[in-house]
This record gives sequence, structure tokens and C-alpha cells, in this order.
Amino acid sequence: MRGAEITGVHVLDHPLIQHKLALIRSRDTGVKEFSEAVEEISILMAYEATRDLPTQEIQVMTPLAPASCRVIAGKKIAVVAILRAGLGMIPGIRRLVPSAKVGHIGMFRDHDTLRPIQYYCNLPDDLPERDVILVDPMLATGGSIALALDLLKAKGACSIKTMCLIAAPEGIAKVYERHPGAEIYVAAVDERLNERGYILPGLGDAGDRMFGTN
Ligand code: PRP
Ligand code: URA
Repeated sequence: MRGAEITGVHVLDHPLIQHKLALIRSRDTGVKEFSEAVEEISILMAYEATRDLPTQEIQVMTPLAPASCRVIAGKKIAVVAILRAGLGMIPGIRRLVPSAKVGHIGMFRDHDTLRPIQYYCNLPDDLPERDVILVDPMLATGGSIALALDLLKAKGACSIKTMCLIAAPEGIAKVYERHPGAEIYVAAVDERLNERGYILPGLGDAGDRMFGTN
């Protein structure tokens, strides 16, 4: 599975990802189906985002003969979710990489300024030794992802991939402005933001749709 690349952003256009994205965009999709589809998309996206993990050769005895196999080598993974909506992306990634440590960054957008307000941060101690996957379904103005990248780098993280489901071009530009060279994986880059900072066409408020609030 390979995606198209737009200005350094990996747009993962695999048919299964796009099919499930259509499901979560629909206003007729309820909480249960929404969270299940987010979990499934996260698995498919993590598969692609972990494609370049280093491997090492080991010998395994099959019932018939020794076999040379490749297993993941070197650094371990940490997945960091931006609360709330990023929580929905954690279970899928943990199914692929059960040994991943999980960090949480709590932030919400101020409704007037659209700037992120941080209220919580709990990250693994050994972040510098881990490949970090930062997850949040929505990259809108880019303020939340840019701030989360600030925090992760301040804690010593040096290998970070950002995984979002839907991004706005304005938000991508802001993240690159603050973090040139950021590695961003998305399922779609949408048209633009509306006057309230929501992605158009987007999927609405990801946290509300995931947890049934409004
Ligand atoms: C949403 C979303 C992102 C953020 C994106 O969270 O999950 O974290 O907005 O917007 P930005 O790119 O403009 O910063 P929200 O602030 O609604 O908080 P919630 O998940 O707790 O509802
Ligand atoms: N946060 C969301 O949940 N959705 C958007 O469209 C923008 C920010």
C-alpha cells in the first residue's frame, strides 16, 4: 500500500482507507460505527507509517528446517494521542504494535481564538529512545498538532510521525512553518477551513462524533 505525496505529506489513498473514510464522513454514521471505522483506518494507516521501521535477521526453527526471518529491530514505538479524539486511533495501532507505550496530551481549541489550550500531558519517560507516532483525527488550523510537536520535541523526541485522518491545507502549512520537515500521514487533504475553523467538507467535530457528545 503506497500513497500519493503532496508537498511532503503522505496521502494514503488505499481503497480500504478511502472506503472507511467515506463512512466516517457521513452524517448518518452513528457513534459505534464511527469509532469502529476510525479504529480500522488507524490500523491501515499505521501499517503504512511503520513501513520503514528497521528490521534485523534472526534464525527460527520451523518444524522442518531453520529459516532466516526478519523482525523489527532497534528503537521501540510510542503512540501519543491528542485528547479527546486521538483516543479513538490508539486501539488500532496497539493491535499492530502491542508493545507500544502510550502517551496522552490533553488540549482543546478555544472557540474564539481557535488556539489550542493544553490541560494535560503524560508521556513515556524514554521518549527519546522511541519512534513516536502522534495521532489526532483532525488537522484543521494546525495549532494542536504544532503545539503537540513542540511538547514532544521538548521532551526529547527526535523521531516523530504525525498521523491524522483529515487535514486542511491551511493547517498543513502552519505545521510546516513551525516544524519544517515534519512527517505527516493523512487519509485526505480537504478543501479549506470554514469561518469557525472546521474542515470542509471534513466530518464535523471528531470528538463529538466519537463519543456522542455535542
Ligand atoms: C479537535 C481535534 C484536534 C483539533 C484540531 O479537538 O481533535 O485536536 O480540534 O484543530 P486545530 O488543528 O485547529 O488545532 P477539539 O479542540 O475539538 O477537542 P476535543 O477533541 O476534546 O473535542
Ligand atoms: N476539529 C474537529 O473535530 N473538526 C474540524 O473540522 C476541525 C477541528
